[in-house]
Order: sequence, then structure tokens, then C-alpha cells
Amino acid sequence: MLWIKAFHIIFMVTWFAGLFYLPRLFVYHAQCEDAAGNARFKIMERKLFWGIMTPGALLTIGLGVWLWLGYGFSGKWLMWKLMLVLALLVYHAWCLVALRAFRDDRNRRGHKYYRVMNELPVFALVGIVLLVVLKPGA
Ligand code: HEM
Repeated sequence: MLWIKAFHIIFMVTWFAGLFYLPRLFVYHAQCEDAAGNARFKIMERKLFWGIMTPGALLTIGLGVWLWLGYGFSGKWLMWKLMLVLALLVYHAWCLVALRAFRDDRNRRGHKYYRVMNELPVFALVGIVLLVVLKPGA
């Protein structure tokens, strides 16, 4: 089980690397005015989303469910944790929508909007780690 938990944490870190870095790219992309920069941001965003962030999400969730169902974990902490994971998945989907808006030169949002959105995953990260380590109401 410890190997599964270790890789669960490793892939969680890769998922969060994308959840923090991709919206930061959107901040700079929204301020970009030259064609070469626009093309470069599109490549970086696509590779980060499909090459790191999405595999990280799938492996974190797959190994988490393996821990949950394979080793009989239960408790209120896990239900709260799963609600925060659901919120992360909604945020992940929002990243895909924004990525496609930039890809098709349809983005109409300014850099301030993306700066605010960029901060949101922090709350889920802190909440999930506190829930899984402290297990309140276990
Ligand atoms: C469907 C998604 C997920 C499920 C079902 C799940 C389930 C679990 C389970 C059952 C454990 C073992 C708890 C223990 O050994 O005490 C665990 C450990 C852990 N999970 Fe998840 N998890 C999920 C997603 C995440 C996410 C998104 C994060 C990101 C912050 C995360 C962070 C952790 C950490 C840090 C541990 C190690 C806790 C420890 O060793 O005390 N998990 N997870």
C-alpha cells in the first residue's frame, strides 16, 4: 500500500504543477501582443495540459481510488476530500475551456481575471492535505 500512496502523492504534485502553472501562462498570454509570442504560448499550454497536468490528474485519482476501495479507507474526511477533488476537476475543465479559447484566438478575458483564477487551487490543496493528514471526524 505504501508504494501506491507514494505514487499517489508524486502524481498529485505533477497535477498541481499544472494547476498552478497553466493559469499563470494564461495571465501572460492575455497580455501578449505579438504573433510569435502568441504561437509560443499556445504550444506551451497544450503540452502542459495534455502532457503533464491531465496524466497527473488521472493517475492521482486512479491511485487514490485504489487506496480508498483497495484498503477500505472511509470516514467523513474522505467524503470532504472527494468534494474538494470534484472542485479541482471542475477547475481542470475550466483550464481546458480557457486553453481552447486562446488556441482559437477567442479569448476576451484580461490578465486580472486570470490572476484571480490562478489563486483558487491553493484553497483546495490546503484543504485536502489537512483533511487527509489530520482526518477530522475520522
Ligand atoms: C479521487 C481522488 C482521491 C482519492 C479517492 C484519495 C484517497 C486517498 C486515500 C484513501 C489515502 C490514504 C490515507 C492514509 O493513508 O491515511 C490518500 C492519501 C493521500 N492523499 Fe489522496 N485521494 C485522492 C486525491 C488526492 C488529491 C487530489 C490530493 C492532493 C492534495 C491527495 C493527497 C493525498 C495525500 C498527501 C495523502 C497522504 C496522506 C498520509 O500519508 O497521511 N489525494 N488519498
